[in-house]
Amino acid sequence: MAKINIPQLNRVIDLDPSLSLMENLLAHDIPVASSCGGDGICGKCRMMVFPTSPLEPASEAEHTTLNKANAHPGERLSCQVYLDDNAMVETTYW
Ligand code: FES
Repeated sequence: MAKINIPQLNRVIDLDPSLSLMENLLAHDIPVASSCGGDGICGKCRMMVFPTSPLEPASEAEHTTLNKANAHPGERLSCQVYLDDNAMVETTYW
C-alpha cells in the first residue's frame, strides 16, 4: 500500500487512492486549512507535494485558485489532488 509521508509531524499514513490528498489527511486526523470545504476555491489547503510518480497536472480551475492564493511553485490544492503512489507533503502550518 502506498504511503503519504508527513515529516513535519513525524507521521506516515496509508494512502487511499479513492480519496483526495486532503481527505486522506483528514481521515487520519491531520488538520488541513480550508474555508471552502474542499471545493477548490479558497486556496487554503495548498501544500507542497513531492510525489514519487508524476501527478495529474493541475486543472484550469486549480491553476486559477493557486494563482489567486499566490501559491509557490510546486504547491497544489490538496482537495484537488489524487495520489496513486508514495508522496511526501509539507505545508507552512504543521
Ligand atoms: S479546501 Fe478550499 S481550495 Fe482546497
